[in-house]
Amino acid sequence: DEVPVLCVDGPTASGKGTLAAELALRLGYHYLDSGTLYRVAGLATRRAGLEPEPAHEAAIADLARALPLCFDAGRVLLADEDVTDAIRTEAAGMDASRVSALPAVRTALTELQHSFRRLPGLVADGRDMGTVIFPDAPLKVYLTASAEHRAERRHKQLISKGIPAILADLRADLEARDARDSNRSVAPLKPAQDARLLDNSFLSIDQSVEQVLDWWRQAQ
Ligand code: C5P
Repeated sequence: DEVPVLCVDGPTASGKGTLAAELALRLGYHYLDSGTLYRVAGLATRRAGLEPEPAHEAAIADLARALPLCFDAGRVLLADEDVTDAIRTEAAGMDASRVSALPAVRTALTELQHSFRRLPGLVADGRDMGTVIFPDAPLKVYLTASAEHRAERRHKQLISKGIPAILADLRADLEARDARDSNRSVAPLKPAQDARLLDNSFLSIDQSVEQVLDWWRQAQ
């Protein structure tokens, strides 16, 4: 494929989204936030009255293959409903993690993810962008930060939005989600063999952006 892809993978609340969106802006590329697709699939599962569990794998995969999904000016629409806020809750993250562990659901969402690869280029963030979805990407970044830093950032984010949150609970939740994402049999969370590791525990967003842009230039 001629279209360049820059992958950013990593655990929950590592700052992937912020970094990837800024990189897309700076490079003038398209942006795929693949977690959104799993979050919407989780929500659609609940809306269909199903539990996000293996017993319903085929039905959930059917829902995922035909998601009436639309991205419009930063909003996410499912059918005609604005679900932007509904998919961002911790519960929706946990449901996303549960449906994403089902192999048929991952397969169902593969084509949709590939369709984001259009000129002039793509920045894709998630858990398996570099390992499974875009294995030929010229640059794969694996972004991490300590669980403590990630929980603190998530906590600040929520509090600043006026959403009550307990630091210890957030940390326990994100560690549970990481454990499920890392231990599943399909597309587990792990760095691609040729990934560049970036720990941003002590980096500003700007410093992380500059580091990745350096690597991107070197990869050309
Ligand atoms: O990145 P985000 O927190 O929005 O992702 C929600 C969940 O979706 C993750 O915990 C993970 O289980 C799943 N996911 C995935 N593969 C991706 C992106 C997200 O399995 N490429």
